[in-house]
Amino acid sequence: MMRRHLFLLGFFPLLVLSDCECGYMVRSPDREDGAWVFADMLETDFTQTEDIATNGDWVRQGFNVTAEAGRGEYGKAFLPDNVFSHRTSATGSGTDAGVQLRVRSLVSGTDMVPVAELDTSRRDLHWGSFRAGMKLAEVEGTCAAFFWYFNDTQEIDMEFLSREFDHARGVYPVHLVIQTRDALAAGFNAQNTDTYKQVNLAFDPTAGFHEYRFDYLPGRVIFYADSEKLAEMEGSAMPSSAGHLILQHWSNGNPQWSGGPPVQDALLTVSYVKAYFSSLDATLRETTKDECSAEDNDGAVCIVPDGVAVNASTGGWFISRDGDPSRNKEGTVGNDGDDSESGAASPDCNEGSVAIKVMAMAVSLVGSIALALL
Ligand SMILES: *[C@@H]1O[C@H](CO)[C@@H](O)[C@H](O)[C@H]1NC(C)=O
Ligand SMILES: *[C@@H]1O[C@H](CO)[C@@H](O)[C@H](O)[C@H]1NC(C)=O
Ligand SMILES: *[C@@H]1O[C@H](CO)[C@@H](O)[C@H](O)[C@H]1NC(C)=O
Repeated sequence: MMRRHLFLLGFFPLLVLSDCECGYMVRSPDREDGAWVFADMLETDFTQTEDIATNGDWVRQGFNVTAEAGRGEYGKAFLPDNVFSHRTSATGSGTDAGVQLRVRSLVSGTDMVPVAELDTSRRDLHWGSFRAGMKLAEVEGTCAAFFWYFNDTQEIDMEFLSREFDHARGVYPVHLVIQTRDALAAGFNAQNTDTYKQVNLAFDPTAGFHEYRFDYLPGRVIFYADSEKLAEMEGSAMPSSAGHLILQHWSNGNPQWSGGPPVQDALLTVSYVKAYFSSLDATLRETTKDECSAEDNDGAVCIVPDGVAVNASTGGWFISRDGDPSRNKEGTVGNDGDDSESGAASPDCNEGSVAIKVMAMAVSLVGSIALALL
């Protein structure tokens, strides 16, 4: 037991060792696609965030993009004030609680559309499962995006164009894009590459909250909405770096993409973001290997519950707040025999306490339960 304590890094106050000490197991909703264990997590319940401006995990962005640089008819003014917490009651519950990203209509005589971006402070998000509860703006002429970014040729995007939403026909596309060197060669037009897919959502994303998710794995990225698979992309062009998460809501008048600018203010509401990931630290990777290997795993691997529409407005279970959802502490890693999700199980650990540590570990479960540390 003593040895395990050595690997905890005290960058969170009130660090208490409890469950999940061997990581967080993310299972693909289609079980045959695999399961992975990630060592680290970042969960934010934006419905409970008093003021996003003072939240250390997230940084509101302020910068300008000219019309030319953004390939639009207008420039974009990313203003921190366009990102704000919206709590509708003391408990945060109620209509559209969360962090809101606002695109303003264009002030006549100006050539910059006031838009919004919110980034994670951490930039070491490597392989992982990244999820956001979002309700999109109905106002035509904006692009809402949830993405992972390292650089312009290593980027994983879920983008929504409100001008494309067709309520009469019930058509709601999402654009799934992985920016690669091929996209760069195509003049950043990923639409001409095979790492671009447009998929129609099975619901109206402006009518309520839904969970948008992508799992970024070695050589492979799987996209989901409400834990239903939208697409999978793979190959050598996939990203391989560590990066950060970005929430964005913008418009630049480009008729081929965002359209707009919107004729009235448009709001994207994000209820939560949950990230289960490996950060990079080779030293710790070595030391944690033995501790949590399959043969000798006396610690806990917490099983991360999938999100669905009914819990997308609140985020449902937060491991950092509600504890170990899986009570999977028998030393068996990912006993996958039962398909009923255990996310609703009551926590069996001290409330609010969670072990957070840095190690780069990913476990791949293929067929039989076998651990492969990456
Ligand atoms: C963006 O442009 C506006 C208008 O020109 C200017 O006032 C502002 O300082 C710029 N912001 C940044 C972060 O450069
Ligand atoms: C992004 O990073 C990768 C890996 O470091 C590098 O090979 C690539 O050239 C970078 N792309 C850009 C646009 O800088
Ligand atoms: C969301 O609700 C579903 C259905 O009740 C449940 O199976 C799942 O574990 C919940 N997910 C989270 C993240 O709370």
